[in-house]
Amino acid sequence: MPECHSTNTLALELSQNSAIAEGTIVITDNQTAGRGQRGSSWQAEAGKNLTFSIVLKPVFLEVKNQFFLTVVTALAISDFLREKMLDFITIKWPNDILVHEKKICGVLIENQVQGRALQTAVVGIGLNVNQIHFPVSTAGSIAQFLSHELSLNDVLSGLVSCLEARYLQLRQGKFDVLKHEYLLHLHWKGEQHFFETEQGVFSGVIVGVDEHGRLAVEVEGKLAFYDVKQIRFLK
Ligand code: BTN
Repeated sequence: MPECHSTNTLALELSQNSAIAEGTIVITDNQTAGRGQRGSSWQAEAGKNLTFSIVLKPVFLEVKNQFFLTVVTALAISDFLREKMLDFITIKWPNDILVHEKKICGVLIENQVQGRALQTAVVGIGLNVNQIHFPVSTAGSIAQFLSHELSLNDVLSGLVSCLEARYLQLRQGKFDVLKHEYLLHLHWKGEQHFFETEQGVFSGVIVGVDEHGRLAVEVEGKLAFYDVKQIRFLK
């Protein structure tokens, strides 16, 4: 689409109203109402970045393992960035991709469930490719780090290949390999940092994620587990 409100919304509508094939991609040059995690918005300069959603049908995946779609997507994006010779790539739980501490990619996954299995998953990816100026200092793009622009078509096909490879690992049931690699790249893992929850600000150490994908943080010798909406990373 030359322009659309949100590729995720469009992909969800398509998958509900028609028999579209697994792997269908909805992509736009200009997303006018991009949606982010926790009800936030996603803004990307028109024509400079990738904003797209891919429709998956992970019917082989039990709902209790749905976090692995997050794992697969985050790893695929990191794989792709590594192929592009970028370094200092980390996954900020659950699935922000940082390069040298700058967020260059956000992911929004929306699932449709039937019984105990996943029916459809819309994996929305916003990857900052050629944009140079950002409204916030925490954001960045591939071009900023490589000092040259990339073809958006090449980036899309490279990224989708990485996603397919990781998705096939998931389909083969390689949960342990995927989780191990995810934890290897997890931002702040094993380091003392500040976090904020409803209880207030505290210092703790990320030690991993549990089987539901909740973040495991050790605070004064005790383990606590958090959902996405329950914890904020401070510094
Ligand atoms: C986040 O980091 O908060 C997630 C951002 C996800 C943005 C992508 S862009 C393509 C797709 N369509 C949307 O409306 N959102 C996702």
